Amino acid sequence: MTLQEIEQLVFAEIIRVTTAKELEEVQHTYLGRKGHLTAILRGLSTLSLEEKRTIGEQANALRVRIETALKEQFGKLEGKGEEKFFDITFPGKKVVTGHLNPLTLILREIEDIFISFGFSVVEGPEVETEFNNFDALNIPANHPAREMWDTFWLKPENQKLLLRTHTSPVQIRYMMTHEPPFRIIVPGTTYRYEATDARHEMQFTQVEGLVVGKDVTLANFKAVIEAFFIRLFAQKVEIRLRPGYFPFVEPGVEVDATCPRCKKKGCELCKFSGWLELGGAGMVHPNVFDAVKYNPKEVQGFAFGIGAERFAMIKYGIPDIRLFRSGDLRFIRQF
Ligand code: DAH
Repeated sequence: MTLQEIEQLVFAEIIRVTTAKELEEVQHTYLGRKGHLTAILRGLSTLSLEEKRTIGEQANALRVRIETALKEQFGKLEGKGEEKFFDITFPGKKVVTGHLNPLTLILREIEDIFISFGFSVVEGPEVETEFNNFDALNIPANHPAREMWDTFWLKPENQKLLLRTHTSPVQIRYMMTHEPPFRIIVPGTTYRYEATDARHEMQFTQVEGLVVGKDVTLANFKAVIEAFFIRLFAQKVEIRLRPGYFPFVEPGVEVDATCPRCKKKGCELCKFSGWLELGGAGMVHPNVFDAVKYNPKEVQGFAFGIGAERFAMIKYGIPDIRLFRSGDLRFIRQF
């Protein structure tokens, strides 16, 4: 065989074989002691000096390429064609599963419940404009109401961007881009520039709610929040609305529910009052509707804001809000 003939055949043969044994035969045919290429290499000594140089170089280069191709194909065929003993009684590898943060668990539950009530889940950015976080929510600059939210400003020099202090700015974003009627909840991370303790964190999670339509009332809100709480805690509760002030609602209310732990008898969790504070709510203020170019004479709606960590703490008996983001595996592994 000439070098050209070898080159034409050998590579096709190498890829055609399906077992390592066949491949060994190919190797033997070309590179073995009596192989085609070996014969050429052996015959070099009988050639002229000039031929030795050119043919020798070509033959050696071809040998390297064949060896590389063989190696690759051996790798692919490894173990193929051999009968391997497979012990089906051998115990399997244990799959290690992680744990979800209770915050994730509670958010999924909250979302599922509201989705079943016909709500959509909407999100917004954590970096907000001053306008969305404050002005459009009827909290103008220099108004004392701004003191309710200790704010992380991102650009002290122009005071226009901030880390949102609540999820309420998503109300603005949503209403500016959608027409009523609608029902949404907005879960999300919020930030406050304040000292931390067992009940306060700088970074925490809220779930905002907003329902706008022709004749949405505060009674609707009470029914929705009661149904929600009953689903989340799988027991009957009473809801109590107390007057409260939030600039973006009028009237505004603080929402309490009977303590699911002691059933109103009084315990550590409810500080022996029988009631738990759930969050704030109210009827959307006409100024907010004005800011998003809705006609307050044509639509009305209720809004609410609840703290997700708080619900997880109540539901799972977590004593300190700082545990959620502590990264402590001993905490996470309990869920
Ligand atoms: N955004 C308020 C806060 O973080 C909570 C809140 C109160 C939201 C009343 C509302 C509402 O939508 O109507 O303190």
